Amino acid sequence: MPETIYSRDQMTDDYRRMVVRLMTRQFLAELATAEIYGHSIELAPTWREKVRQARFCREEAEHSESAARLLEELGQDVGGLLASRKSGMSFFGLSETLTEWTEVVVFNFLADRAGTYQLEAYRDASYVPWATTMVKILAEEEVHQAVGNQQLERLCRDPREAARAQQHLDTVMPIVVKRAFGRPDPEDNAFCLSHGLKSCSAAEVQGRYFAEVRGLLESCGLRFPDLRGVAAT
Ligand SMILES: [Fe+2]
Ligand SMILES: [Fe+2]
Repeated sequence: MPETIYSRDQMTDDYRRMVVRLMTRQFLAELATAEIYGHSIELAPTWREKVRQARFCREEAEHSESAARLLEELGQDVGGLLASRKSGMSFFGLSETLTEWTEVVVFNFLADRAGTYQLEAYRDASYVPWATTMVKILAEEEVHQAVGNQQLERLCRDPREAARAQQHLDTVMPIVVKRAFGRPDPEDNAFCLSHGLKSCSAAEVQGRYFAEVRGLLESCGLRFPDLRGVAAT
C-alpha cells in the first residue's frame, strides 16, 4: 500500500520530481484551455453559448490555479514556466487566429474528454492535496465533456459543417492526444503506479479514450483520424 503524502517534507526527491512533472503538464494544459475558451467567446453563435464559454474559461483558469498553487508550494517558479510557453492555441494545435466556431467545438469534444480520462487516474493519488483538487475539476469537466458531445452531434447534422469538423479533427486530434497522454513511458508508469500517484497506466487510459471517441465519432458520421506516429490505436 503506497504511503499517503500531505506535504513536500514527506516526499522523496524522486516522488517530488514526478509530482512536479505531472502537475506542470496539467497546469500548462489547463491554462491553454482557459485561453482557448476565452478566445472562443466572440466566436460563439448565441448569447447562451457566449455565457457558457465564459464560464468554461473561468473554470479552466481555476483548474490551472489549483495546479499553480500546489507547484508553488513545492518550490516551483510558475512564472518562469510562462516565459517559455506557447499560446494556448498553438499548445493544442489549433489555428493561431482561431476564427471558426466548428474548430472550438471539435476542441471541446476532444480535449475535455481527454483531460477527464487523464485526471480520473489521479482521483485517488497518494499526494492528497492534489487528489483533493480533482473533485471540483472532474465535476466541471464532466459538464464540459457532455457539452462537447452535444455540440458536435448537433453541428454534424449539417453536411458542410461535418466536413469542416472532420478537417479540424484530423489536424487537432493528434496534438490533443500527444498533449493529454504524452509518450507512454514504462518506467514513469511503473513509478506512478507503485507510489500510488495514478490508479492505471497511461496506455490503459488512452485505450479507453480511443474506444469511446471512436464510437461517438461514428454516431456523428465522422472518421476516427489517422494517429500513426502519435499513439498506438
Ligand atoms: Fe480543466
Ligand atoms: Fe474542461
